[in-house]
Amino acid sequence: MEMIKLFTFPDSVSLANRPTRLYRPRRSLADYSGGREILVKRDDETGCGTSGNKIRKLEFYAAEALQQGADTIITAGHRISNHTRTTALVARELGMDLHLILAGEGECRVDGNLFLEMVAGAEIHFVPPQDRSELNIRLAELADDLRAIGRRPYVVPAGGSSPLGVLGYARCAQEIKQQVDEAGLRIDAITVALGSGSTTAGLILGAEMFGLGCPVYGVHVTSKPELYGPLLRNLIEETRDRFHIATEVPDDRIRVITGYVGNGYGQSSTEDLAFIQDIARRTGLLLDPTYTGKAFRGTLHEMRKGVLQNCERVLFIHTGGLFGLYNWRSQFQFAEPSELAPRAQASV
Ligand SMILES: Cc1ncc(COP(=O)(O)O)c(C=O)c1O
Repeated sequence: MEMIKLFTFPDSVSLANRPTRLYRPRRSLADYSGGREILVKRDDETGCGTSGNKIRKLEFYAAEALQQGADTIITAGHRISNHTRTTALVARELGMDLHLILAGEGECRVDGNLFLEMVAGAEIHFVPPQDRSELNIRLAELADDLRAIGRRPYVVPAGGSSPLGVLGYARCAQEIKQQVDEAGLRIDAITVALGSGSTTAGLILGAEMFGLGCPVYGVHVTSKPELYGPLLRNLIEETRDRFHIATEVPDDRIRVITGYVGNGYGQSSTEDLAFIQDIARRTGLLLDPTYTGKAFRGTLHEMRKGVLQNCERVLFIHTGGLFGLYNWRSQFQFAEPSELAPRAQASV
């Protein structure tokens, strides 16, 4: 407990709208959740162009970039990445240049996040599909090239996943603790979409540091679920080492829910899209096909019959991703809007 009072977060730049609100859907989702209560933390409202989870991590990276006197931000991700879009807009907010390395294959439509990156004037470098560690090597090479021509680049790791990014969500756990204490609420579990890992790792570490008293589950939506236990453990331990955090995280606190990636990372089934549409119509929540749609669906399903079925109340962290929805617009079928005919004028 002593450590909890003593821990001071390193410098950060205020970029996100914090605290984000806790939202309780007014129309029941009991048929999905088996009657249990779902609350949603609206991290999709951390900003407009910078909305979502990545901005909480970037508040710490931005401070380090400014301290180092950087003039250019560089980062990497998938071509549909929310992280690269957020970083692009943050770089501009800081008055810096930006380069993005984007991985993927095939033709790429300029839509969703990529469109916004282009509007922000990012220098974009496409590369074939590669994993995060390969992307981080490409980033180091690009940083060398930029230094060689006299620039001062600052590298944000792919996905924003390193100890500084983990701190963004450890601080979010502290925010949740304050919110639930003030509201006199008890939550039995927290769930969040699990990608590069620092959001989940930060919440798990922060839950221990600030005494949240409930488990955090990362709902896995990418590839290779078996890697995620070790990945989260590494991120947690690197963060504890770097920032001298004494709080330990027992193994049974590192929890991953698998089985909801469906057709694969960035692929959506008809059922996934029908779910997103149904949730928008019932609650006004806009989920994205790659992360939050699958993670929210997985959460509700596990509440109905799974590892969360003994939980009375679960808090889902909505990590944003709205712009990703635009890439899927041709897959949705809507009725044609009708013309509203003008009223006949009363004759005088
Ligand atoms: C909308 C959204 N939710 C969740 C995640 C997963 O966060 P993390 O990469 O920290 O695991 C991402 C990351 O790419 C994301 O874009």
